[in-house]
Amino acid sequence: MIRLAIQKSGRLSEDSLNLIRECGISFINSSLKLKTEATNFPLEILFLRDDDIPGYVADGVADIGIVGQNVLVEEGREELQVQKLGFSRCRLSIAVPKNEAFTDISALEGKNIATSYPNLLQTYLAGEGVKAQIHTISGSVEIAPSIGLADAICDIVSSGSTLISNGLREVQTVFRSEAVLIANQDLTSEKHQLLNQLLFRIDAVRKAQK
Ligand code: PRP
Ligand code: ZN
Ligand code: MG
Repeated sequence: MIRLAIQKSGRLSEDSLNLIRECGISFINSSLKLKTEATNFPLEILFLRDDDIPGYVADGVADIGIVGQNVLVEEGREELQVQKLGFSRCRLSIAVPKNEAFTDISALEGKNIATSYPNLLQTYLAGEGVKAQIHTISGSVEIAPSIGLADAICDIVSSGSTLISNGLREVQTVFRSEAVLIANQDLTSEKHQLLNQLLFRIDAVRKAQK
């Protein structure tokens, strides 16, 4: 039996479940149950917060997981990555109030930037030689400028509608991301074999989609 962690609710959830189904794996999915077992493959699925997935996989609480590269790199766990999955593509971008003048990244010198991705943002700013104050908040980042909490934000953009709804304008991409499959680095040989079977099916699904 191999244990897979996927996002409980969010941008990756539906695509993650679809990938498992397209691999020919059946399971009963009730939105209230946080754990389910496949009926035709030795697989258990855990529904977790995406931010918790890399840590659980690193510790072996889950054997494998599906998570955004943004979360994986932010948490410094790149070594867990097994394969890119090609869905849930998004970007981590800096955005400012839509009527604010913005020439280039140096305009952020000394400013307050709210984000849930302090490490990715700090790496980017350091590369650009910009010193700003980073305020780490765990959600609803897009509200920060309108309540006076920050001058700018750095958050995940997919369709861009959250930015528009909150009167913000995307000015700089910091990181490009997609869903990736991750795995614990000390899997038993039995689990490793199951992972390989899954990877084989994922590969077939992806080839069929091309
Ligand atoms: C991201 C981001 C926005 C939304 C943007 O959240 O924080 O809320 O997606 O998408 P849009 O450009 O299509 O409007 P995410 O789903 O990554 O969830 P989380 O931050 O709660 O983990
Ligand atoms: Zn999250
Ligand atoms: Mg969000």
